[in-house]
Amino acid sequence: MTPLIDPFQRAITYLRVSVTDRCDFRCVYCMSENMTFLPKKELLTLEELDRMCSTFIGLGVEKLRITGGEPLVRRDIMTFFRSMTRHLEAGTLKELTLTTNGSQLDRFADDLYAAGVRRINISLDTLDEQKFADITRWGRLPQVIKGIDAAQKAGMRVKINTVALKGFNEDELFTLAEWCRSRDMDLTFIEVMPMGDIGNEDRLGQYWKLSDLRDALRKEYTLTDLPERTGGPARYVRVEETGQKIGFITPLTHNFCESCNRVRLTCTGELFMCLGQEDNADLRSALRNHPSSDAPLEQAIRNAITLKPKGHDFDYSRQTVDGRVSRHMSHTGG
Ligand code: GTP
Ligand code: 5AD
Ligand code: SF4
Repeated sequence: MTPLIDPFQRAITYLRVSVTDRCDFRCVYCMSENMTFLPKKELLTLEELDRMCSTFIGLGVEKLRITGGEPLVRRDIMTFFRSMTRHLEAGTLKELTLTTNGSQLDRFADDLYAAGVRRINISLDTLDEQKFADITRWGRLPQVIKGIDAAQKAGMRVKINTVALKGFNEDELFTLAEWCRSRDMDLTFIEVMPMGDIGNEDRLGQYWKLSDLRDALRKEYTLTDLPERTGGPARYVRVEETGQKIGFITPLTHNFCESCNRVRLTCTGELFMCLGQEDNADLRSALRNHPSSDAPLEQAIRNAITLKPKGHDFDYSRQTVDGRVSRHMSHTGG
């Protein structure tokens, strides 16, 4: 089997899979209040998701991250997680993981661990109940904390993702860092990205440069830049006073694309070669039109990889919404 190598000699070993565009929250930077979701028949079925992921694994993908929307609101999603366990057991899949808002975790944490999930990323932008309700519109903080407790109790390593928003969670920088440290959780700040048409909210006004955030941290802590790159967009520092590791995802100000190892499958079976760029390939037809042979799907994947761009198209420097990617994050899966 020839591995998946893109035109810039990057090996594609990481697939992010959005299993639903639905979510039980409506975070203001992600969705509008009255989202129209895709008709269910457009979605890949769980069997199709299995076939799709298994084909990628056959082509050398070693890491799967399941996303959404909120992946745990997809009906019977545990059936899919359990179906991936066989690849972990065979050693062909090295990591099965997910990014979640945490709302359903108290129900699913043990099952996820049993299926082989060892690390989990949970989105949490504030520790204030009212602010949490404001930013997620529909979410309840205590439910998410319960989910985080359950994930840790089940034995999973937790990373918290916090979208940095000026005027919203600026004042919680140290509270969040200390809270994560006290619970032995990693923490990553994410710069807000211009995704989707989500109404009139002024996302650019909330843009909080992570270099400013890092400077604020430096006033209190001694930070050492860590050289390691995981192939992902995050850069890490170590807080010398506490030993804590804090990550920064700055898709708009940092170019991490040269070591990019990932592609993204949407819940409708399109493959996006980059989060910040529109080129995509329809894999669902290759799958549905050939129910008894995976060869056409494999070929469609290989063809798609040749479209992977050198880097993304986000451009905040113009300070307009021109750089906006019209897709919703929940469609492509963050
Ligand atoms: P690992 O890849 O396992 O290290 O996790 P991660 O931190 O990338 O995954 P997670 O789902 O927690 O992603 C957090 C955020 O990082 C995503 O929502 C995106 O905002 C951003 N991100 C992840 N991958 C990419 C990428 O390829 N390009 C860009 N621009 N942003 C990305
Ligand atoms: N910009 C940055 N991060 C976003 N997320 C969702 N929408 C955006 C956006 N517009 C984050 C979520 C979650 C991750 C999957 O993506 O908070 O942590
Ligand atoms: Fe749901 Fe995550 Fe989007 Fe919030 S950011 S609405 S939790 S998919």
